[in-house]
Amino acid sequence: MNLELKGRLKLIADKVPECNTAADIGTDHAYLPIYLVKQGRCQRAVASDVRMGPVQVADRNITKYKLNEHIETRLGSGLETLKNGEADSIIIAGMGGTLVSELLEADTEKALSAKALILQPMNDLDIVRKWLYDHKFDIYDEELAAEGNKIYCVLAARYDGMDKKYQEFQLHVGGKLINNRDPLLLAYCEMKVRQINRVLGQLEDMEDNVRLFDYYNSLKKDYVKLISEL
Ligand SMILES: C[S@@+](CC[C@H](N)C(=O)[O-])C[C@H]1O[C@@H](n2cnc3c(N)ncnc32)[C@H](O)[C@@H]1O
Repeated sequence: MNLELKGRLKLIADKVPECNTAADIGTDHAYLPIYLVKQGRCQRAVASDVRMGPVQVADRNITKYKLNEHIETRLGSGLETLKNGEADSIIIAGMGGTLVSELLEADTEKALSAKALILQPMNDLDIVRKWLYDHKFDIYDEELAAEGNKIYCVLAARYDGMDKKYQEFQLHVGGKLINNRDPLLLAYCEMKVRQINRVLGQLEDMEDNVRLFDYYNSLKKDYVKLISEL
């Protein structure tokens, strides 16, 4: 039985390089590890989640696709369920950017030893890019995927030990998206401007908001400038 992926999950899977063991942290349904093993992209996989409910769903799906000998489920937070050096590709998708960076910070050694981190934060990508750059990771690939009325960004990174210099806005829109002229970049920037406008509207009703107001106004200006150049 084959498993078809599309949109966000397909792009995440496409970014996982050929590997021996892939680990999917926050696996929920385990569709990513099932697809990767079915495709022969990895020999084995770890499907890990902090909650028992998703682990049970993952177990059911793994059994349905007859992959119990190739995919192991684990219960626990973040990368703590992995042994040192066990996973050569680590996927963290569908969680907030702050949580993604906290999970990487909690187990930095395991993140450093992976050949690829494939990350798809739902928000706060600037926090994730900052964590990666400050820990000397190279973001070697980035791409956008559209699903429904949302656009998601998938990052692929690996440790290269080199110091990274960056400007604030480069944490919001990755250089690879611009250099590769990602077909969804214009729509992505327009979506961000709409989100910032909503935040600015909410800030108008709050007191003591000058610093935040300036921050979002300046961020909006950077997006508008980039839109004019696309
Ligand atoms: C929205 S789902 C995303 C599922 C899948 N990764 C995807 O992208 O479709 C988020 C999953 O992350 C799990 N999760 C949340 N915090 C976690 C943590 N600290 N460690 C591992 N999994 C976590 C949740 O239990 C949930 O199953």
